[in-house]
Amino acid sequence: MGQRRNTRRSWNVIVVVTIGAALFAVAPYFLLDPAYSRVIIKTGSRMHFPLLLVHIFVSFIALVIGWIQFIDSLRARNPEVHRLIGRIYLGCVAIGAVTGVIVGMYTTSYIRQIAFLTLSALWLFTGWKGLHSASHRRFDEHRVWMVRNYAITLVASTARLITPICILIFVLGGRNTEGGGVEFVLGHVLEVNIWLGLVVNLLIAEWLIVRR
Ligand code: HEM
Repeated sequence: MGQRRNTRRSWNVIVVVTIGAALFAVAPYFLLDPAYSRVIIKTGSRMHFPLLLVHIFVSFIALVIGWIQFIDSLRARNPEVHRLIGRIYLGCVAIGAVTGVIVGMYTTSYIRQIAFLTLSALWLFTGWKGLHSASHRRFDEHRVWMVRNYAITLVASTARLITPICILIFVLGGRNTEGGGVEFVLGHVLEVNIWLGLVVNLLIAEWLIVRR
């Protein structure tokens, strides 16, 4: 009983931290003003900022509502609510992935661009597998694919949460030699944090799947 309570408490902390990290990233975009965008908006493009906004808001909705789908009691008591939220979630994933590919085309870094393309492809593939197995009533398989899919959704949080660790490793490794300051360090760190977030999340997902 005590262990179950501890496990629940740990999950609650993880939910709050992941949603908090995502909210921190999304917050400036609630102003709907490109002047507050952390992503450099391509001059002369009328579509870049609106598409970035659509991407950010629908992906954020997926991240927030995704957690609800893993509440066992809700799924058992209200399967129709689970189905409804599942459809909204997968709709957000589809729109988030497609807009993610498009805004990724504006990214100057080739390494980040390939990371976004990989994320989108995996997001769509695992989502489709999850939907397909549910519609064929293969619910164990459905759960496995949705754990993987949600692990990819959470890369948005993990990539930001591990950024301080990446910065620390970069600086301790004596790489900040050119005196370029924060911009220089972040320029390097932001090339790897998404890849690292993806590896960490997929490993955790596979561990959760095997453990169960
Ligand atoms: C998993 C698939 C995802 C892909 C492929 C993707 C792709 C992208 C791309 C290409 C950008 C523009 C980055 C740039 O130009 O440097 C971006 C920015 C952003 N995305 Fe996503 N994204 C994904 C998931 C999410 C999720 C789940 C959230 C939820 C919060 C999210 C929130 C954001 C935010 C807040 C930004 C602006 C970044 C900043 O201000 O530094 N993304 N994303």
